[in-house]
Amino acid sequence: MKNPHEFIEKNVGLLTVLILFAIALGAMAQITPLMYQQQTMEPVKGLTPYTALQMEGRDIYIREGCVGCHSQMIRPFRAETERYGHYSVAGESVWERPFLWGSKRTGPDLARVGNRYSDEWHRVHLLNPRNVVPESNMPGYPWLAENTLDGELIEKKLSLFRDFGVPYTDEDIAGAKAAVQGKTEMQALIAYLQSLGTHLK
Ligand code: HEC
Repeated sequence: MKNPHEFIEKNVGLLTVLILFAIALGAMAQITPLMYQQQTMEPVKGLTPYTALQMEGRDIYIREGCVGCHSQMIRPFRAETERYGHYSVAGESVWERPFLWGSKRTGPDLARVGNRYSDEWHRVHLLNPRNVVPESNMPGYPWLAENTLDGELIEKKLSLFRDFGVPYTDEDIAGAKAAVQGKTEMQALIAYLQSLGTHLK
């Protein structure tokens, strides 16, 4: 074999295997260190798990497809930090499953929307965004104010997250159903929104 490079290029099967090997090696070199880096695995100081009501709100956020128009990831660029606040850090997302960073911003980033508006502002906005932002093209979600939560699955949800390493106590799980039962989906979603990005000091 005079020219090994020519040999490889003329053997499609071998070429494919070697390409896949090269990509796998490159990916591992990038991904593996992250899995052992304190900074990407440790929760930020002061991070608290979602309350039962916030957790239900998060599921409603997923169900309603809010992530299709809103990211939750502030990039470390001046234009973003001036508008949204401190850039997002990995330690804020360690308990997120699935993460809702998103990649589409039809609306503003929501990573730090918590405490920016009152609960009442959110309620009026979610009923019909044009109530408070006349030029808004965000859809209204009036049914959230009518649907109530039965809390049937909330204990299961919290204990599942505990299996993933989120520090829920037995009392958290035992009290979860009572904490959400009878609340509206709107209340749950607003509780979730108000918690976003409030932990990083
Ligand atoms: C079709 C795209 C779209 C969808 C879907 C959408 N939004 Fe929006 N959202 C927007 C736009 C555009 C704005 C900016 C105008 C406004 O405030 O209404 C906005 C603004 C917001 C704001 C105010 C943010 C700020 O910093 O001022 C919040 C909170 C919000 N949306 C929450 C939600 C939630 C919760 C859902 C799901 C129930 C959702 N949005 C679904 C497009 C969308």
